[in-house]
Order: sequence, then structure tokens, then C-alpha cells
Amino acid sequence: MLTCQRNLFDIPADVTYLNSAYMGPMPISVQQASQAALQLRVQPWNLQPNDFFSPGEQARSKIGQLINASTEQICFVPNVSNPMGLLERHLAKAWANGSQPRNKRKIVVLNEQFPSNVFPWHNLRSLGFEIQTVCAPAVDSAFNGNAANERVKLWNQALLNAIDADTALVGIEPAHWTDGTAFDLEKIAQKCHANAAYLAIDGTQTIGVEAIDLQVLKPTVYVAHPYKSMLCNYGLAFAYLDAVLMDSQPLEEHWLMRHNARDFTRLTDYQSEYAEGARRFDSSNRANPAMILMLIASLELFEQWQPLRVAQYLHSISSEFCETMKQAGYAIADPNLRCANIIGLRPPAGTDSQSIAEKLRAHKIYVSIRSGSIRISPHMYNDANDFKKLSDQLLSIT
Ligand SMILES: Cc1ncc(COP(=O)(O)O)c(C=O)c1O
Repeated sequence: MLTCQRNLFDIPADVTYLNSAYMGPMPISVQQASQAALQLRVQPWNLQPNDFFSPGEQARSKIGQLINASTEQICFVPNVSNPMGLLERHLAKAWANGSQPRNKRKIVVLNEQFPSNVFPWHNLRSLGFEIQTVCAPAVDSAFNGNAANERVKLWNQALLNAIDADTALVGIEPAHWTDGTAFDLEKIAQKCHANAAYLAIDGTQTIGVEAIDLQVLKPTVYVAHPYKSMLCNYGLAFAYLDAVLMDSQPLEEHWLMRHNARDFTRLTDYQSEYAEGARRFDSSNRANPAMILMLIASLELFEQWQPLRVAQYLHSISSEFCETMKQAGYAIADPNLRCANIIGLRPPAGTDSQSIAEKLRAHKIYVSIRSGSIRISPHMYNDANDFKKLSDQLLSIT
């Protein structure tokens, strides 16, 4: 099993950072990669045209291994809503040219899902598509004992029930960003495929922590922005696109994403052919040495750690904490029903969560409040002692 990796981070000894779902602290190796890249930029005579392409290919190959997908189907995007926008445009076009069956106009999303995987679908409502929001069952009054587990199971069931022959698209997160509720992606994918519905997955909160196999899930879009669970920077995310989107027109007509763009002497030959595979959709941030070299450094860390081992470590350091808090009247789902890096703690009725977070902050313990739950998001720099500090404070506050 992995051990605590705090020595790879620059985190002061008195800080208990349990908030990677807000923003992951950058490991020293990622910071160093950005410094090396800036040095390249300071002396650009050392930058070759190849540097606009090769690091991107190196990162693409590592991403392919991480999510088990072909490099030909991976592109770099600036944020989560970008590849969702591509699918939105595809659906709008299919609707306009009549290839989208008229009954297939239901779009299924989760209640309080992150907006980047909701706003693009809102745009489709003017065409006749309808959004069905699947809510968590109301079990708040009995939020103790098994109620937290029941909530996850019932929510999953409600989601599966919502997917039927009229469904055009399901937009989903592997685990809810507010409290870590895990959704059974395999069952959801099966139901989508059985009903010929598109599947758009936003893996931003779980990439690198929960193993994901796109050969099994075969989604239409999978996208992850690596500045949270992958401890990297904001602005260079990556996406997998299904073959159905591969011939689409990119959202931007960037000069680097054309066939043979490597030859900088012939850029004004205005090549009409796009770059191969999903590369036509690449964001120009891919050619920013700082962004891409940081991403490679982060991918290298997760290659060493491996998602399954990260998840195992995070469950191991939080298990005693979860038991203690359950006994104190907090509702927490079992480990197999939530992701390893987000623990949504629902305080007993009448507790003011926001004031709890502020009191914790005064002790340099950092968590977030999201939709009524205290969201605790550990990572490889945390250990069981951090959770002990948190439970001591929580028990003394409430
Ligand atoms: C689940 C999830 N997806 C995406 C994002 C960020 O979205 P974007 O990449 O569109 O900025 C967040 C940020 O909190 C998030 O929690």
C-alpha cells in the first residue's frame, strides 16, 4: 500500500488541507516543470516547432493509459464545458437535419450537478429537448444509521430508471462533486447503450483517484480538468471523444490543428485538412510549454501511484474518522458508495455548516461546504492524523 506522500508537496506543517475538491495543491515536481517551462519561454531561441507538438503527444499517450483509450480519440480542451459544447452542437445538427428521432429528446442530469455539464444542455431546450433532473431521495429526516447508504442506492436506481428509449443524452459525474456520492458508471453506460443514448461524463473530481476504463464504458464524451484530484493547473483539460464526434467541425479553427502544421514555413498554404484523429479539437494551450509540461509531470506521478492504490490509501486514512463521526450523529455513506477523495458529512439537524467551516479554518483545517454537506477531500499528502485533528475539532465545535 502507498504511504503518505507529503514530502512531495510544499505544505506547511501546521496546515491540514482537506480541500483538494476545491483545488489540488501542486506537487513540487509539477511546480518545477512549470519553472523549467518558463525558463524555456524566457529564452525562446531554444524552443523548436517540435516543442509545439511532441510534449502534447507524450501527454496524450499517458492520458490514453490512464483512462484506457486510444490516443487518436483524445484531445486537449480548455475546460469541461468545451467538449460538452461539441456534443451539444452535434445534437443540434442531428435535430435540424432530422437524423435525431423526434421522440429522443430527454436529457438526463443529476440534481445539483456541476454547471459545466448542465449549461450546454440548457441551450438545447429551445429546440425541443427537455432536461430531466434526477434528485437525491429525501431521506434527511432519518439521516443516521443506514439512511446515507440508502440515499446513494435510491439515487442510483432513480437515475437508471430515468434512462429509457426517449433519452437522447445522459450527463453525469462518476461521483457527485458536492458529497462524493458514487454513481455506478458501468450500469449507467449499459443502460445508455441499450437505449442508444449519448453519455457525457465529467471526471474532473475523480480522475487519478478512481480507476476508469473507457474501453468498458464507451462514453460519447469523457472529460477531466486536472486541477483538482490530479493536482495540476487550471486551463488545460483533456477529453475523450467517441467516433460519432470525430468528423465534427472544431469549435475553433486554430492554425496548429491542421494537417502538417509542423511545417511553419508553409502555414499560409492554408491547409484545408484537419490534424489527425481528435487532434483537430485540441486547445492551443497544448502548445504552452508551462501547461503541457505541468500536465506531464502530474501524469507521471499518477502513473507511479496508480488510481486504485490512491483510492485504497485514502479510504485507509479516513475509515476511523468516518466511524467516529457516524457515532456522533453525522451521516456518511459507506466507502463502496462514495469516491475515496470526497467525503460528504451531513451534520445533525440544526447545525450551521458554514460556521463550522469558519471555525475549522481558524485552526488551519480547510474543508468546503457544498449543498448542505461538509465536503472533506483528502489526497496523498494527508494521513490519519489529519483526520484525527478534524474529528477532534468537529466534536468540540458541535
Ligand atoms: C465536477 C466539476 N467539473 C468541472 C469543474 C470545473 O469546470 P470547468 O472545467 O468547466 O471550469 C468543477 C469545479 O468545481 C467540478 O467540480
